Amino acid sequence: MTSVQVAIDALNAAGQNALASALAGLDGADQQSLAAQVDDLDLDLIGDLVNRFVHGGETEKPLGSVGEAATIPIPADDAALAAEAQARSVGEDMLRSGKVAALLLAGGQGSRLGFDGPKGDYPYAPITKRTLFAQHAAKIAALRTRYGCELPWYILTSPQNDAATKASFAAADHFGLAPASITFVVQGTLPAVDAQTGALLRAEAGSLALSPDGHGGLFSALRRSGALDEMKAAGISTIFSFQVDNPKVRVCRPEFLGYHREANAEMSNTAVRKSSPGEKMGVVVELDGTTSMVEYSDLPDDLANQRNDDGSLTYWAGSIAVHCIEVDFALRLTEGGLKLPYHRANKKVAHLDANGQLVSPSEPNAIKFETFLFDGLPLASASITIEAARDDEFCPIKNADGDSSPESARQLLNEMYSRWYEATGISVPLAQDGKPVDLEIDPRFALDADELAARLPAGFSITGPTALGPDGAIIS
Ligand code: UTP
Repeated sequence: MTSVQVAIDALNAAGQNALASALAGLDGADQQSLAAQVDDLDLDLIGDLVNRFVHGGETEKPLGSVGEAATIPIPADDAALAAEAQARSVGEDMLRSGKVAALLLAGGQGSRLGFDGPKGDYPYAPITKRTLFAQHAAKIAALRTRYGCELPWYILTSPQNDAATKASFAAADHFGLAPASITFVVQGTLPAVDAQTGALLRAEAGSLALSPDGHGGLFSALRRSGALDEMKAAGISTIFSFQVDNPKVRVCRPEFLGYHREANAEMSNTAVRKSSPGEKMGVVVELDGTTSMVEYSDLPDDLANQRNDDGSLTYWAGSIAVHCIEVDFALRLTEGGLKLPYHRANKKVAHLDANGQLVSPSEPNAIKFETFLFDGLPLASASITIEAARDDEFCPIKNADGDSSPESARQLLNEMYSRWYEATGISVPLAQDGKPVDLEIDPRFALDADELAARLPAGFSITGPTALGPDGAIIS
């Protein structure tokens, strides 16, 4: 039997008769490519999702009983500082002994930013126009130097942006990193289905309407690609995962790694204080007694607005999606199929109708399915959440303007670098808007305020916008 016939039979057996007929009616390259896509589908999984979410009308599960998550606060006394120092030392040992891999999540579509290309190619830096990828790469390089370790770097891409991402890295000479030390892992896709019938939709004659399977897809992608086995073989115990759109992220922060290890945790979180009850970030909570993440849209208003006696938000712990994940945990989660729940989203999906005409709906017509990385949390045997200083670790670039935009990130970075300089006694002039002038510090020169203080030459001063390169020279 030809592979086309195999695909047709599989579709018919799965009740996807319309697509089976469409495939039978095609020829040439369109037929081959559609058959290949069908061959890659997990039709049992799709059948199950369609039965539950389309025919069964299943919606998201109601929220269980919500309580405050236990967190490790920012140290405020000597005992806490000593505990943090101990955690740092454990984390530094993990890095030095090659127990850690860094994992950048870069498979998203970045639709809110509206940037044409992988989000990591976004030139966020005000003076040098360096990209998010360049910023993360510089941190990886700095960590390798600081801890004398290989620190393998895994980058999750999607079929939509994998080639463009690899091309950016190649064009930038892998930002000075050895190409063999970077592994691109392509996440999977899931097909959109008609919201009424559950029929698989085609975007083009020879192609399904596919989209990335969500950041939870990283677990399956790491397993499928052999990356988890590779990590095991290399003696790596822990994956440090972070998102592409936060140029302040403290990659492989040793304190976090150390607390995670000391607690024997399988998957851990970093949280910052939400800036307002309505801030659109997931919140780390105790859900039915287990550490979990609740999406902002699922946290009821009364809980989002609940305050403690001192006026602070009760559910303050906004997740910045920085996690430590044990390799063994990722293997367990993917043994015999991914053990994360699937979520549905109603979307407008352009597709071909029964006559092969392109339809661009003005209302949601389709259901897309996704898994979320943070749904691993309640499945972990142990998990810790550390509080991070928002000003030091978080300036997401999500939207084209307003909150969480390139402009807000620019200001937040300028303010952070300004604090670093002020801590060394160097004053930073203000721009006309009364805010610090544009500042950049290459992570290879200084990863943090202490390193900056140690490396700046005596007599250094700032008179205007200043970008420090990897060797501390001013880039103009
Ligand atoms: P977001 O949830 O912000 O999604 O991703 P996004 O796709 O980047 O942007 P929008 O929502 O379309 O505007 C958070 C992080 O998770 C990664 C993203 O690359 C980003 O680093 N991600 C998201 C994946 O790697 N894969 C996915 O399927 C989704």
